[in-house]
Amino acid sequence: MRAWCTKKAVFFIAVMIILLLLYNAAKTAKDSNQLISNHPKVTIRKKIVETQTVVNSAVSENVKSKDNLKYILQWTLPQNVPFVYMGKGREGFISRNCPYTNCFVTSDRNYLGDYTKFDVIAFAGPEVVRYRKDRLPQKRSPHQKYAFASIESSDNYPLCTNSLDGFFNWTWTYKLDSEIRWGYMTIRDKNKTIVGPNKEMHWLKLEDMEPVSEDFKQKLKTKTKAAAWFVSNCYSRSNRMGVARKLNEELRNKYNLSVDIYGSCGQLSCSRDKEENCDDLIKKDYYFYLSFENAFSEDYATEKLWRALNYDAIPIVYGGANYTRFMPDGTYLDARKLTITELAAKMNELINDPEKYAEYFKWKNHYSYHRQHESVDTEPYCLFCTHLNNEEMVKTTTIYEDFKKWWTPPGRC
Ligand SMILES: *[C@@H]1O[C@H](CO)[C@@H](O)[C@H](O)[C@H]1NC(C)=O
Ligand SMILES: *[C@@H]1O[C@H](CO)[C@@H](O)[C@H](O)[C@H]1NC(C)=O
Ligand SMILES: *[C@@H]1O[C@H](CO)[C@@H](O)[C@H](O)[C@H]1NC(C)=O
Ligand SMILES: *[C@@H]1O[C@H](CO)[C@@H](O)[C@H](O)[C@H]1NC(C)=O
Repeated sequence: MRAWCTKKAVFFIAVMIILLLLYNAAKTAKDSNQLISNHPKVTIRKKIVETQTVVNSAVSENVKSKDNLKYILQWTLPQNVPFVYMGKGREGFISRNCPYTNCFVTSDRNYLGDYTKFDVIAFAGPEVVRYRKDRLPQKRSPHQKYAFASIESSDNYPLCTNSLDGFFNWTWTYKLDSEIRWGYMTIRDKNKTIVGPNKEMHWLKLEDMEPVSEDFKQKLKTKTKAAAWFVSNCYSRSNRMGVARKLNEELRNKYNLSVDIYGSCGQLSCSRDKEENCDDLIKKDYYFYLSFENAFSEDYATEKLWRALNYDAIPIVYGGANYTRFMPDGTYLDARKLTITELAAKMNELINDPEKYAEYFKWKNHYSYHRQHESVDTEPYCLFCTHLNNEEMVKTTTIYEDFKKWWTPPGRC
Protein backbone atom coordinates (compact mmCIF):
# COMPACT_ATOMS: atom_id res chain seq x y z
CA MET A 1 0.00 0.00 0.00
CA ARG A 2 2.75 2.36 0.89
CA ALA A 3 4.69 1.38 -2.17
CA TRP A 4 1.58 1.92 -4.28
CA CYS A 5 1.13 5.34 -2.68
CA THR A 6 4.73 6.30 -3.42
CA LYS A 7 4.35 5.07 -7.01
CA LYS A 8 1.18 7.08 -7.39
CA ALA A 9 2.85 10.18 -5.93
CA VAL A 10 5.85 9.82 -8.21
CA PHE A 11 3.54 9.40 -11.21
CA PHE A 12 1.53 12.45 -10.13
CA ILE A 13 4.64 14.57 -9.69
CA ALA A 14 6.01 13.38 -13.04
CA VAL A 15 2.76 14.30 -14.78
CA MET A 16 2.80 17.69 -13.09
CA ILE A 17 6.40 18.32 -14.18
CA ILE A 18 5.60 17.33 -17.75
CA LEU A 19 2.55 19.57 -17.78
CA LEU A 20 4.60 22.43 -16.38
CA LEU A 21 7.29 21.91 -19.01
CA LEU A 22 4.70 21.80 -21.76
CA TYR A 23 3.07 24.98 -20.49
CA ASN A 24 6.40 26.73 -20.32
CA ALA A 25 7.34 25.59 -23.78
CA ALA A 26 4.04 26.82 -25.15
CA LYS A 27 4.47 30.16 -23.39
CA THR A 28 8.00 30.60 -24.73
CA ALA A 29 6.81 29.74 -28.21
CA LYS A 30 4.04 32.29 -27.93
CA ASP A 31 6.46 34.96 -26.70
CA SER A 32 8.89 34.30 -29.46
CA ASN A 33 6.09 34.43 -32.01
CA GLN A 34 5.29 37.83 -30.70
CA LEU A 35 8.95 38.68 -31.02
CA ILE A 36 8.98 37.64 -34.64
CA SER A 37 5.98 39.73 -35.53
CA ASN A 38 6.86 42.79 -33.47
CA HIS A 39 10.59 42.96 -33.30
CA PRO A 40 12.24 44.63 -36.28
CA LYS A 41 15.56 42.85 -35.76
CA VAL A 42 14.01 39.50 -36.46
CA THR A 43 12.36 40.83 -39.60
CA ILE A 44 15.66 42.12 -40.89
CA ARG A 45 17.26 38.78 -40.22
CA LYS A 46 14.56 37.15 -42.29
CA LYS A 47 15.28 39.51 -45.15
CA ILE A 48 18.93 38.69 -45.00
CA VAL A 49 18.08 35.03 -45.20
CA GLU A 50 15.95 35.73 -48.26
CA THR A 51 18.75 37.64 -49.93
CA GLN A 52 21.09 34.79 -49.21
CA THR A 53 18.67 32.43 -50.87
CA VAL A 54 18.72 34.64 -53.93
CA VAL A 55 22.50 34.73 -53.83
CA ASN A 56 22.70 30.98 -53.53
CA SER A 57 20.33 30.36 -56.37
CA ALA A 58 22.11 32.91 -58.53
CA VAL A 59 25.23 30.85 -58.08
CA SER A 60 23.59 27.76 -59.47
CA GLU A 61 24.22 27.48 -63.19
CA ASN A 62 20.58 26.74 -63.97
CA VAL A 63 19.28 29.99 -62.64
CA LYS A 64 22.20 31.81 -64.21
CA SER A 65 21.25 30.75 -67.70
CA LYS A 66 17.53 31.13 -67.08
CA ASP A 67 17.88 34.74 -65.92
CA ASN A 68 20.47 35.31 -68.58
CA LEU A 69 22.35 37.56 -66.19
CA LYS A 70 25.80 38.75 -67.22
CA TYR A 71 28.12 39.00 -64.28
CA ILE A 72 30.65 41.81 -64.04
CA LEU A 73 33.32 41.83 -61.35
CA GLN A 74 34.98 45.11 -60.44
CA TRP A 75 38.52 44.09 -59.63
CA THR A 76 39.82 47.53 -58.68
CA LEU A 77 38.24 49.67 -55.95
CA PRO A 78 34.46 50.01 -56.35
CA GLN A 79 34.38 53.38 -54.58
CA ASN A 80 36.63 55.04 -57.16
CA VAL A 81 35.54 56.72 -60.36
CA PRO A 82 34.40 55.26 -62.75
CA PHE A 83 33.20 52.13 -60.95
CA VAL A 84 31.32 54.05 -58.30
CA TYR A 85 28.79 55.14 -60.93
CA MET A 86 28.12 51.62 -62.20
CA GLY A 87 25.79 50.92 -59.27
CA LYS A 88 25.49 47.60 -57.49
CA GLY A 89 23.79 44.61 -59.01
CA ARG A 90 21.52 45.64 -61.88
CA GLU A 91 20.68 48.99 -60.33
CA GLY A 92 22.90 51.16 -62.55
CA PHE A 93 21.38 49.74 -65.74
CA ILE A 94 17.81 49.84 -64.51
CA SER A 95 18.01 53.41 -63.19
CA ARG A 96 19.44 54.59 -66.52
CA ASN A 97 16.67 52.84 -68.49
CA CYS A 98 19.28 50.97 -70.48
CA PRO A 99 18.17 48.82 -73.42
CA TYR A 100 19.70 45.86 -71.54
CA THR A 101 19.43 45.61 -67.78
CA ASN A 102 20.51 42.02 -67.31
CA CYS A 103 24.06 42.87 -66.27
CA PHE A 104 24.98 42.37 -62.65
CA VAL A 105 27.80 44.33 -61.02
CA THR A 106 29.66 43.38 -57.86
CA SER A 107 33.09 43.86 -56.35
CA ASP A 108 32.78 40.68 -54.27
CA ARG A 109 35.27 38.26 -55.79
CA ASN A 110 33.56 35.32 -54.06
CA TYR A 111 30.09 36.21 -55.23
CA LEU A 112 29.91 33.31 -57.67
CA GLY A 113 32.15 31.17 -55.52
CA ASP A 114 35.07 31.60 -57.86
CA TYR A 115 36.04 34.67 -59.85
CA THR A 116 36.75 32.69 -62.98
CA LYS A 117 32.97 32.35 -63.33
CA PHE A 118 32.37 36.04 -64.05
CA ASP A 119 31.61 36.98 -67.65
CA VAL A 120 33.72 40.11 -67.33
CA ILE A 121 36.36 41.31 -64.93
CA ALA A 122 36.72 45.07 -65.17
CA PHE A 123 39.81 47.06 -64.20
CA ALA A 124 39.90 50.83 -63.73
CA GLY A 125 42.79 52.20 -65.78
CA PRO A 126 44.28 54.69 -63.31
CA GLU A 127 44.60 51.94 -60.69
CA VAL A 128 45.54 48.92 -62.72
CA VAL A 129 48.42 50.62 -64.54
CA ARG A 130 50.07 50.84 -61.10
CA TYR A 131 49.24 47.34 -59.87
CA ARG A 132 51.97 44.82 -59.22
CA LYS A 133 51.48 41.43 -60.83
CA ASP A 134 50.47 39.77 -57.56
CA ARG A 135 47.44 42.05 -57.27
CA LEU A 136 46.02 40.81 -60.58
CA PRO A 137 43.84 37.68 -60.84
CA GLN A 138 46.00 34.59 -60.56
CA LYS A 139 43.69 32.31 -62.56
CA ARG A 140 41.47 32.95 -65.52
CA SER A 141 39.08 31.07 -67.72
CA PRO A 142 39.23 31.48 -71.49
CA HIS A 143 35.61 32.56 -71.87
CA GLN A 144 36.14 35.57 -69.61
CA LYS A 145 36.63 39.09 -70.91
CA TYR A 146 39.04 41.28 -69.05
CA ALA A 147 38.04 44.89 -69.63
CA PHE A 148 40.22 47.97 -69.23
CA ALA A 149 38.12 51.01 -68.28
CA SER A 150 39.31 54.60 -68.39
CA ILE A 151 37.88 58.01 -69.00
CA GLU A 152 41.15 59.54 -67.80
CA SER A 153 43.85 60.39 -70.28
CA SER A 154 46.65 57.94 -70.94
CA ASP A 155 49.12 60.80 -70.67
CA ASN A 156 48.20 61.19 -67.00
CA TYR A 157 48.00 57.44 -66.41
CA PRO A 158 50.54 55.85 -68.71
CA LEU A 159 51.51 52.20 -68.50
CA CYS A 160 55.27 51.95 -68.57
CA THR A 161 55.83 48.18 -68.48
CA ASN A 162 54.83 45.36 -70.81
CA SER A 163 53.20 43.46 -67.96
CA LEU A 164 49.67 43.94 -69.30
CA ASP A 165 50.43 43.02 -72.90
CA GLY A 166 48.04 40.22 -73.93
CA PHE A 167 46.05 40.70 -70.73
CA PHE A 168 42.93 42.64 -71.77
CA ASN A 169 40.23 41.49 -74.17
CA TRP A 170 38.13 44.63 -74.21
CA THR A 171 38.73 48.32 -73.69
CA TRP A 172 36.13 50.77 -72.48
CA THR A 173 37.75 54.18 -72.99
CA TYR A 174 37.54 57.48 -74.89
CA LYS A 175 39.88 56.11 -77.55
CA LEU A 176 37.90 55.79 -80.74
CA ASP A 177 39.02 52.23 -81.41
CA SER A 178 37.85 50.94 -78.02
CA GLU A 179 35.26 48.14 -78.21
CA ILE A 180 33.07 50.19 -75.92
CA ARG A 181 33.12 53.92 -76.48
CA TRP A 182 33.28 56.09 -73.42
CA GLY A 183 33.85 59.50 -74.86
CA TYR A 184 32.68 62.94 -73.96
CA MET A 185 30.43 63.60 -76.92
CA THR A 186 28.45 62.14 -79.79
CA ILE A 187 27.96 63.79 -83.17
CA ARG A 188 24.67 63.38 -84.99
CA ASP A 189 23.59 64.44 -88.46
CA LYS A 190 20.33 66.17 -89.40
CA ASN A 191 18.45 62.87 -89.18
CA LYS A 192 19.78 62.35 -85.65
CA THR A 193 21.88 59.46 -86.86
CA ILE A 194 25.14 59.06 -84.96
CA VAL A 195 28.00 59.89 -87.31
CA GLY A 196 30.94 60.44 -84.97
CA PRO A 197 33.40 61.00 -83.61
CA ASN A 198 35.17 58.34 -85.62
CA LYS A 199 38.60 57.63 -87.04
CA GLU A 200 37.21 58.03 -90.53
CA MET A 201 34.81 60.94 -90.86
CA HIS A 202 32.95 61.90 -93.99
CA TRP A 203 32.22 65.53 -93.26
CA LEU A 204 30.33 67.63 -95.73
CA LYS A 205 32.75 70.02 -97.36
CA LEU A 206 32.57 73.55 -96.01
CA GLU A 207 31.57 74.92 -99.41
CA ASP A 208 28.69 72.41 -99.62
CA MET A 209 27.23 73.43 -96.29
CA GLU A 210 24.19 75.67 -96.02
CA PRO A 211 24.98 79.30 -95.25
CA VAL A 212 24.43 80.63 -91.74
CA SER A 213 21.00 82.23 -91.37
CA GLU A 214 20.55 85.96 -90.81
CA ASP A 215 18.81 85.13 -87.61
CA PHE A 216 21.85 83.32 -86.29
CA LYS A 217 24.17 86.11 -87.42
CA GLN A 218 22.06 88.52 -85.36
CA LYS A 219 22.48 86.30 -82.31
CA LEU A 220 26.24 86.40 -82.70
CA LYS A 221 26.14 90.19 -82.53
CA THR A 222 25.75 90.23 -78.73
CA LYS A 223 29.38 89.17 -78.41
CA THR A 224 31.83 91.76 -77.15
CA LYS A 225 34.74 89.86 -75.58
CA ALA A 226 37.49 87.84 -77.18
CA ALA A 227 37.98 84.58 -75.30
CA ALA A 228 36.86 82.79 -72.17
CA TRP A 229 38.32 79.85 -70.34
CA PHE A 230 36.84 77.98 -67.37
CA VAL A 231 39.55 76.11 -65.54
CA SER A 232 40.03 74.64 -62.10
CA ASN A 233 43.32 72.75 -62.43
CA CYS A 234 46.07 75.31 -62.73
CA TYR A 235 48.89 72.84 -63.18
CA SER A 236 48.77 70.29 -65.97
CA ARG A 237 51.23 68.23 -67.97
CA SER A 238 50.24 70.01 -71.16
CA ASN A 239 51.19 73.46 -69.77
CA ARG A 240 47.98 74.89 -71.10
CA MET A 241 48.17 77.69 -68.52
CA GLY A 242 51.44 78.93 -69.99
CA VAL A 243 49.92 78.99 -73.46
CA ALA A 244 46.80 80.81 -72.28
CA ARG A 245 48.92 83.46 -70.52
CA LYS A 246 51.07 84.05 -73.59
CA LEU A 247 48.01 84.31 -75.78
CA ASN A 248 46.52 86.80 -73.36
CA GLU A 249 49.67 88.94 -73.44
CA GLU A 250 49.77 88.90 -77.19
CA LEU A 251 46.09 89.83 -77.47
CA ARG A 252 46.48 92.64 -74.93
CA ASN A 253 49.63 94.13 -76.32
CA LYS A 254 48.66 94.07 -79.95
CA TYR A 255 44.87 94.17 -80.09
CA ASN A 256 43.54 95.39 -76.74
CA LEU A 257 41.78 92.01 -76.39
CA SER A 258 42.10 89.42 -73.65
CA VAL A 259 41.57 85.85 -72.45
CA ASP A 260 39.19 85.94 -69.50
CA ILE A 261 40.04 83.16 -67.08
CA TYR A 262 37.20 81.97 -64.84
CA GLY A 263 37.61 79.67 -61.87
CA SER A 264 40.27 79.08 -59.23
CA CYS A 265 43.15 79.73 -61.65
CA GLY A 266 41.90 83.11 -62.80
CA GLN A 267 40.45 86.31 -61.47
CA LEU A 268 36.88 85.90 -62.65
CA SER A 269 34.13 83.66 -61.42
CA CYS A 270 30.70 82.56 -62.47
CA SER A 271 28.42 80.37 -60.42
CA ARG A 272 29.34 76.75 -60.80
CA ASP A 273 26.14 75.41 -59.25
CA LYS A 274 24.25 77.17 -61.97
CA GLU A 275 26.35 75.91 -64.83
CA GLU A 276 23.87 77.30 -67.33
CA ASN A 277 24.88 80.76 -66.26
CA CYS A 278 28.54 80.21 -67.08
CA ASP A 279 27.58 78.61 -70.36
CA ASP A 280 25.15 81.39 -71.23
CA LEU A 281 27.96 83.82 -70.62
CA ILE A 282 30.00 82.12 -73.34
CA LYS A 283 27.10 82.21 -75.72
CA LYS A 284 26.26 85.85 -75.11
CA ASP A 285 29.65 87.51 -74.63
CA TYR A 286 32.50 85.51 -76.08
CA TYR A 287 33.78 85.00 -79.61
CA PHE A 288 36.11 82.16 -78.65
CA TYR A 289 36.40 79.51 -75.98
CA LEU A 290 39.64 77.80 -74.99
CA SER A 291 39.11 74.05 -75.25
CA PHE A 292 42.48 73.33 -73.67
CA GLU A 293 43.03 69.77 -72.48
CA ASN A 294 45.15 69.02 -69.42
CA ALA A 295 47.04 66.27 -71.24
CA PHE A 296 47.90 65.21 -74.76
CA SER A 297 46.48 61.81 -75.62
CA GLU A 298 45.10 60.40 -78.83
CA ASP A 299 41.32 61.01 -79.12
CA TYR A 300 41.24 62.78 -75.78
CA ALA A 301 38.82 65.63 -76.53
CA THR A 302 36.61 66.39 -73.57
CA GLU A 303 33.50 68.34 -72.64
CA LYS A 304 35.58 71.52 -73.03
CA LEU A 305 35.18 71.09 -76.74
CA TRP A 306 31.53 70.17 -76.49
CA ARG A 307 30.90 73.31 -74.43
CA ALA A 308 32.34 75.68 -77.03
CA LEU A 309 30.45 74.02 -79.88
CA ASN A 310 27.17 74.04 -78.02
CA TYR A 311 27.42 77.56 -76.73
CA ASP A 312 28.23 79.27 -80.00
CA ALA A 313 31.87 80.13 -79.46
CA ILE A 314 34.63 79.08 -81.84
CA PRO A 315 36.73 76.48 -80.02
CA ILE A 316 40.44 77.09 -79.77
CA VAL A 317 41.73 73.57 -79.28
CA TYR A 318 44.90 72.49 -77.56
CA GLY A 319 45.17 68.76 -77.14
CA GLY A 320 46.48 65.43 -78.40
CA ALA A 321 43.44 64.46 -80.43
CA ASN A 322 43.35 64.46 -84.18
CA TYR A 323 40.57 67.01 -84.33
CA THR A 324 39.44 66.13 -87.84
CA ARG A 325 37.81 63.12 -86.16
CA PHE A 326 35.72 65.50 -84.06
CA MET A 327 34.95 68.56 -86.20
CA PRO A 328 34.87 69.65 -89.81
CA ASP A 329 37.77 71.88 -90.86
CA GLY A 330 36.92 75.55 -90.72
CA THR A 331 35.06 75.14 -87.44
CA TYR A 332 37.87 75.73 -84.97
CA LEU A 333 41.38 77.12 -84.42
CA ASP A 334 44.23 74.89 -83.25
CA ALA A 335 46.68 76.39 -80.76
CA ARG A 336 49.22 73.68 -81.50
CA LYS A 337 49.25 74.34 -85.25
CA LEU A 338 49.37 78.12 -85.11
CA THR A 339 51.99 80.16 -83.29
CA ILE A 340 50.76 82.46 -80.55
CA THR A 341 51.31 85.40 -82.88
CA GLU A 342 49.31 83.78 -85.69
CA LEU A 343 46.55 82.69 -83.35
CA ALA A 344 46.07 86.15 -81.84
CA ALA A 345 46.11 87.73 -85.32
CA LYS A 346 43.50 85.24 -86.58
CA MET A 347 41.26 85.91 -83.59
CA ASN A 348 41.49 89.64 -84.12
CA GLU A 349 40.74 89.23 -87.81
CA LEU A 350 37.59 87.18 -87.19
CA ILE A 351 36.34 89.46 -84.44
CA ASN A 352 36.56 92.36 -86.88
CA ASP A 353 34.87 90.49 -89.73
CA PRO A 354 31.39 89.31 -88.64
CA GLU A 355 30.69 87.57 -91.98
CA LYS A 356 33.85 85.54 -91.82
CA TYR A 357 33.30 84.82 -88.14
CA ALA A 358 29.79 83.49 -88.84
CA GLU A 359 31.16 81.09 -91.48
CA TYR A 360 32.65 79.05 -88.65
CA PHE A 361 29.13 78.06 -87.60
CA LYS A 362 27.93 76.63 -90.91
CA TRP A 363 28.29 73.14 -89.47
CA LYS A 364 25.29 73.87 -87.23
CA ASN A 365 23.02 73.45 -90.24
CA HIS A 366 24.11 69.83 -90.58
CA TYR A 367 25.42 68.43 -87.30
CA SER A 368 24.78 68.55 -83.59
CA TYR A 369 26.93 67.63 -80.61
CA HIS A 370 25.53 65.71 -77.66
CA ARG A 371 26.80 64.49 -74.33
CA GLN A 372 27.00 60.71 -74.33
CA HIS A 373 24.64 60.31 -71.39
CA GLU A 374 21.88 62.18 -73.22
CA SER A 375 20.72 59.00 -74.90
CA VAL A 376 20.66 55.35 -73.82
CA ASP A 377 22.14 54.44 -77.24
CA THR A 378 25.36 56.21 -76.30
CA GLU A 379 25.29 56.20 -72.48
CA PRO A 380 28.61 54.55 -71.57
CA TYR A 381 27.30 52.30 -68.78
CA CYS A 382 24.39 51.16 -70.94
CA LEU A 383 26.81 50.51 -73.80
CA PHE A 384 28.81 48.19 -71.59
CA CYS A 385 25.77 46.01 -70.89
CA THR A 386 24.63 46.19 -74.51
CA HIS A 387 28.04 44.99 -75.59
CA LEU A 388 27.90 42.14 -73.13
CA ASN A 389 24.64 41.04 -74.73
CA ASN A 390 26.16 40.99 -78.19
CA GLU A 391 26.80 37.27 -78.52
CA GLU A 392 29.10 37.59 -81.45
CA MET A 393 31.26 40.13 -79.61
CA VAL A 394 31.35 37.94 -76.55
CA LYS A 395 32.26 34.80 -78.47
CA THR A 396 34.95 36.40 -80.58
CA THR A 397 38.37 36.10 -79.04
CA THR A 398 39.93 39.51 -78.85
CA ILE A 399 43.26 40.18 -77.19
CA TYR A 400 45.21 43.40 -76.77
CA GLU A 401 48.61 41.88 -77.43
CA ASP A 402 50.43 45.17 -77.52
CA PHE A 403 48.50 46.94 -74.82
CA LYS A 404 51.28 49.25 -73.66
CA LYS A 405 51.70 50.56 -77.16
CA TRP A 406 47.96 50.87 -77.65
CA TRP A 407 47.47 52.87 -74.48
CA THR A 408 50.61 54.84 -73.73
CA PRO A 409 51.45 57.89 -75.87
CA PRO A 410 54.76 57.55 -77.73
CA GLY A 411 57.75 58.77 -75.74
CA ARG A 412 55.77 59.07 -72.51
CA CYS A 413 57.71 56.48 -70.48
C1 LIG B 1 18.11 61.99 -93.92
O1 LIG B 1 17.06 61.10 -94.35
C2 LIG B 1 16.53 61.42 -95.63
C3 LIG B 1 15.35 60.49 -95.88
O2 LIG B 1 15.67 59.17 -95.55
C4 LIG B 1 17.62 61.26 -96.68
O3 LIG B 1 17.12 61.59 -97.96
C5 LIG B 1 18.77 62.20 -96.33
O4 LIG B 1 19.85 62.01 -97.23
C6 LIG B 1 19.26 61.97 -94.91
N1 LIG B 1 20.18 62.99 -94.57
C7 LIG B 1 21.39 62.73 -94.10
C8 LIG B 1 22.22 63.89 -93.73
O5 LIG B 1 21.82 61.60 -93.96
C1 LIG C 1 43.93 62.45 -88.59
O1 LIG C 1 42.93 61.46 -88.81
C2 LIG C 1 42.63 61.27 -90.18
C3 LIG C 1 41.50 60.28 -90.24
O2 LIG C 1 41.75 59.17 -89.41
C4 LIG C 1 43.88 60.81 -90.93
O3 LIG C 1 43.60 60.69 -92.29
C5 LIG C 1 45.00 61.83 -90.74
O4 LIG C 1 46.18 61.35 -91.32
C6 LIG C 1 45.24 62.06 -89.28
N1 LIG C 1 46.19 63.11 -89.09
C7 LIG C 1 47.25 62.98 -88.33
C8 LIG C 1 48.14 64.18 -88.21
O5 LIG C 1 47.51 61.96 -87.71
C1 LIG D 1 40.64 98.76 -74.75
O1 LIG D 1 39.35 98.16 -74.58
C2 LIG D 1 38.61 98.70 -73.54
C3 LIG D 1 37.30 97.99 -73.43
O2 LIG D 1 37.41 96.67 -73.75
C4 LIG D 1 38.37 100.20 -73.75
O3 LIG D 1 37.68 100.74 -72.65
C5 LIG D 1 39.69 100.90 -73.96
O4 LIG D 1 39.47 102.24 -74.32
C6 LIG D 1 40.52 100.24 -75.04
N1 LIG D 1 41.84 100.85 -75.13
C7 LIG D 1 42.35 101.27 -76.27
C8 LIG D 1 43.71 101.86 -76.20
O5 LIG D 1 41.75 101.18 -77.32
C1 LIG E 1 40.95 36.92 -73.46
O1 LIG E 1 42.34 37.10 -73.34
C2 LIG E 1 43.04 35.97 -72.88
C3 LIG E 1 44.49 36.34 -72.63
O2 LIG E 1 45.08 36.81 -73.77
C4 LIG E 1 42.89 34.87 -73.89
O3 LIG E 1 43.55 33.71 -73.45
C5 LIG E 1 41.40 34.55 -74.07
O4 LIG E 1 41.24 33.64 -75.13
C6 LIG E 1 40.63 35.81 -74.42
N1 LIG E 1 39.24 35.47 -74.33
C7 LIG E 1 38.30 36.01 -75.08
C8 LIG E 1 36.92 35.48 -74.88
O5 LIG E 1 38.49 36.92 -75.86
